[in-house]
Amino acid sequence: MDDYFAPDPLEDLHFATRAVRAGNDRSAFGEHSEALYLTSSFVFRNAAEAAARFGNQTPGYVYSRFSNPTVRQFERRLASLERAEACIATASGMSAILSTAMALLKAGDHVVCANSVFGATHQLFTMLSRYEVHCSFVNLTDEREWASAVTPATRMFYLETPSNPLNEIANLEALSGLARARGITLVVDNCFCSPALQQPLLHGADVVIHSATKYIDGQGRILGGAILGKRAFIEGMVLPLLRCTGPTLSAFNAWVLLKGLETLRVRMHAQSANALDLALWLDSHPAVRRVYYPGLASHPQRELTVRQQASGGAIVSFEVGGNDPEDQRARAWSVIDQTKLISITGNLGDTKTTITHPASTTHGRLTAQAREAAGIGEGLIRLAVGLEFPEDLRHDLDRGLARLCA
Ligand SMILES: Cc1ncc(COP(=O)(O)O)c(C=O)c1O
Repeated sequence: MDDYFAPDPLEDLHFATRAVRAGNDRSAFGEHSEALYLTSSFVFRNAAEAAARFGNQTPGYVYSRFSNPTVRQFERRLASLERAEACIATASGMSAILSTAMALLKAGDHVVCANSVFGATHQLFTMLSRYEVHCSFVNLTDEREWASAVTPATRMFYLETPSNPLNEIANLEALSGLARARGITLVVDNCFCSPALQQPLLHGADVVIHSATKYIDGQGRILGGAILGKRAFIEGMVLPLLRCTGPTLSAFNAWVLLKGLETLRVRMHAQSANALDLALWLDSHPAVRRVYYPGLASHPQRELTVRQQASGGAIVSFEVGGNDPEDQRARAWSVIDQTKLISITGNLGDTKTTITHPASTTHGRLTAQAREAAGIGEGLIRLAVGLEFPEDLRHDLDRGLARLCA
């Protein structure tokens, strides 16, 4: 095995080529499809070799908690697509976020986090106060709020862009400038766009997080995550932590994700086109109060979206009206309940379109106050648009929406 974090030999090739070729490490058998190495440990020729490998004096695999050839191929391919020096895969997106927090923070440190992050992420940063790490939540799109939340103890900025579920866009260059000037690490969850639509490291982020469970798998099969950034951070701070804590991606899941990366670009573009089609239709529907989709010309941050993203992505959120929050919830639930094709499930990033009521599911554990700060109302519905024929999706949604107009 060569250097685990060796530079990408395909770096000059197009994204489409790297998506199917990068990280490929063929064994002596010459297999064409990447091999799946289901093994907990690796065998040494003698005791001296074992000692040298354990002591990191010679390269080579030791134990799959921290190194495995299938996982490594996934890590190298994803690093190539994100234009990162190095990547460590994890068992889930949440374990990637926790591992990053543990690698960067210690008791007494402070985090500034967007208030519009995934519900469990919000809860995790709140829980860190048990370990004397405190977090301030700010409006994703207001750089003045980020600047004024900074204290001498601030070590990390954390955000998602686009945000879940409202599709707000963070100005990465502005926030990275603010972070860099104060020695703060900017961590970006790139789950919604995936590297096929956005590469945050090229816009100034220091660390990228993935829930590979979403678009990278792309077919709703497995959980996975990843942390990407500079080699010094990944090798020096994340890998030792992974070795001792074990939130490791399994070889089987890494193999599924490697295959997911091969079709990622094609899926993201097709799903984005379907999402735009639905967003335009919803935008003109009389039962819809507001559509949140960065691919629409009316999105308040359209210019920034075009600068950072290759398309608006595949998530469309929209709001139905109502007299009060209870009525809004009843109307949103009735639209969801009348779908027959679209799946009612919390996951996103699948080829099958999914529908969710964020206020009572993905963001249901937040306090009402935190939900309000994040702008997640009872009338809000999130669609994660898949690969079905758009007219079939419109028909499925219109069953409930048309009744709201009656
Ligand atoms: C934006 C975002 N980040 C992180 C996560 C957590 O990922 P996982 O479910 O793989 O732990 C999710 C899950 O839905 C998410 O939507």
